[in-house]
Amino acid sequence: LRREHPVYYNERHDFWTLSRYQDVVKAVRTPEIFSSAKGVGLDKRYGLSMIAHDPPDHTRLRKLVIKAFTPRQIASYEPQIQAIIDGLLDDVLAKGSFELVEDLAIPLPVTVIAHVLGVDPEYRRDFKRWSDDVVNFTAGNAPAEAREQLRESWKEFCDYFSDMMEARLRDPQDDVVTILAQAQDEGDSLTVIEFLNFCQLLLVAGNETTTNLISNGVLAFNEFPEEAERLRRHPELAKHMVEEVLRYDTPVQLTYRTTTQDIDIHGVTIPEDTKVALLWGSANRDPEMFDKADRLDITRDPNPHVAFAAGIHYCLGASLARLEMRLTMETLARRMRHLEIDPDGGCERIDTALLRGMQRIPM
Ligand code: HEM
Repeated sequence: LRREHPVYYNERHDFWTLSRYQDVVKAVRTPEIFSSAKGVGLDKRYGLSMIAHDPPDHTRLRKLVIKAFTPRQIASYEPQIQAIIDGLLDDVLAKGSFELVEDLAIPLPVTVIAHVLGVDPEYRRDFKRWSDDVVNFTAGNAPAEAREQLRESWKEFCDYFSDMMEARLRDPQDDVVTILAQAQDEGDSLTVIEFLNFCQLLLVAGNETTTNLISNGVLAFNEFPEEAERLRRHPELAKHMVEEVLRYDTPVQLTYRTTTQDIDIHGVTIPEDTKVALLWGSANRDPEMFDKADRLDITRDPNPHVAFAAGIHYCLGASLARLEMRLTMETLARRMRHLEIDPDGGCERIDTALLRGMQRIPM
């Protein structure tokens, strides 16, 4: 695609793809032509949250929520995130067997997001169920008989979080819900519906993506053991390592935009009101941009990958995902020096073109 058909039309599903780094970046930086307002998926159900808005609506929402996710705010959660990772690894050691995805990569992000939002520990189990159900409800792929249960979970989720928002206004705490409840910009604030949609977006955008990043990291080090050894000898490379795994095995492979006008790229015209897939994964392996793009190199610098997109929709949770990944890899290296993937254990990839990650990694 990248070399021969950089602007490609998929006739079967009626969408276009851009696969070169420069084209993808140019498109995402031109939201007036490549719009998010008809959703960032292929289907025509438009999301309600900020990810599916263009300026000025997007600008307004982003200004209201950004304070909850500044790198400084996120860095303050490091001790608790470390404690969550250690707790999960204690359970693994007590159990004596280790399946990386189920035992660590899935529970970590959902536990962390519950913690940073400020969910009461006694509701953590409910939160995990709501989170799974809300994600399935949003994806719209559950069988009809399951949809009633998903709708019920969404209602419980909304009741819990709207009560929490009110409680935090009366009695502020050191958590994300307090920051969101108090958020003000020139007299403007989030409505309860906007707040609930945003909490939903955090679960949909933040959990499986981070799970996949951790799985892809462990897998990449299995493929390039010399890089794993290099990280062990030079732990100061951990931050670079996170960026390189994001580039090398990009968890969100693509998202869509919709054209607001006819647009010519490399002599091909993409018509107005058409879905265009921006291939982040392909852009991150573009040899025009990255030397030896198909190699994992944890010293790669600079590394201007687009795993978190670019421009106005740049991933709001990027600092949190980076922190979770770095602490996980550092902790695995420290506590489990001889960690290996079980070659006969049956590693399985997840089965979707949208996300890249693993279903199972027996260790
Ligand atoms: C947006 C990737 C983790 C919250 C995005 C986008 C990408 C992305 C590619 C842009 C989508 C588009 O514009 O079409 C990732 C990856 C992650 C990750 C690869 C993990 C490795 C997280 C986490 C959170 C989060 C942990 C929150 C806790 C968001 C939000 C947006 C977003 C709120 C929308 C921002 C906006 O519309 O302005 N993410 N994400 N993400 N992400 Fe992430």
